[in-house]
Amino acid sequence: MKRIGVLTSGGDSPGMNAAVRAVVRKAIFHGTEVYGIYQGYQGLIEGNIQKLELGSVGDIIHRGGTFLYSARCEEFKTTEGQKKGIEQLNKHGIEGLVVIGGDGSYRGAEALTRHGYPCVGVPGTIDNDIPGTEFTIGFDTALNTVIDAIDKIRDTATSHDRAFIIEVMGRNAGDIALWSGLAGGAESILIPEEKDELADVVQRLNRGTERGKKHSIIIVAEGVTTGSEFAKQLKDECNLETRVSVLGHIQRGGSPTASDRVLASRLGARAVELLLAGKGGRAVGIEKNALVDYDIIEALSHQHQIDRSMYQLSKELSI
Ligand code: F6P
Repeated sequence: MKRIGVLTSGGDSPGMNAAVRAVVRKAIFHGTEVYGIYQGYQGLIEGNIQKLELGSVGDIIHRGGTFLYSARCEEFKTTEGQKKGIEQLNKHGIEGLVVIGGDGSYRGAEALTRHGYPCVGVPGTIDNDIPGTEFTIGFDTALNTVIDAIDKIRDTATSHDRAFIIEVMGRNAGDIALWSGLAGGAESILIPEEKDELADVVQRLNRGTERGKKHSIIIVAEGVTTGSEFAKQLKDECNLETRVSVLGHIQRGGSPTASDRVLASRLGARAVELLLAGKGGRAVGIEKNALVDYDIIEALSHQHQIDRSMYQLSKELSI
């Protein structure tokens, strides 16, 4: 391939810039030109495409967000939108595309693959919910942001003997809640993959109170309910007073951790290797610290699973 494209799409995640940098540098290293597609699939449809040079990706490895910008694009979910995108790629002589993003972005890459266009998906989302990889780019940074918040909330929870509900992101996945809850020593973690009964949460709170512990941290994944809904439920059904913190979009920002930068660099470079080897329609990932790649259509037919042993452990440690 003489010319490839790269785009970031969907919710941004820390480390996307490092991934784009890896794509650009790796391709140029092998004598291939790279074109940046700005604003995800929306920009692809509109032809918002510019050539990237080595210097275009200088000084971005440590920056959160994505310098290529991102968007959620309804039009690209239609066959018409996808065809417009392929027309733009052909018009610019772009022979293969690296798509960095989460579930929706992968669906777009899958569609391009079905149309016969060579694409490689790189998992970039804080949600850690992409099948075919143990970790997604941005998850580790988001996790550290959440931990920082939990630690701070714990200080005030302890001072006031209060129970706090912390609502975290993750869309339909519980990874951010589970990992941050375990790392932050939360008393209860509510994730969509496991139905934690209200009674169980209350029992844990009461058990803590009985042994003289009056503060507690409850992590609620947004895929279960909102923090304020859960607070209302605790108040209405158990007369328990809580405070609620919704962490929101701060979870998506910030400088990527070393781990996310390394992951992004490895995955971005592997995506280029695959395209240059003529292997389109792939999704790259990491398993047991080794790079892997799968057929993107096949990968998307599976569902990401949480680590149930970790969930069990979190219960045992917060007894
Ligand atoms: O997929 C990343 C994510 O931050 C989810 O955790 C969250 O549900 C969603 O995006 C929020 O999307 P938006 O920024 O479009 O509101």
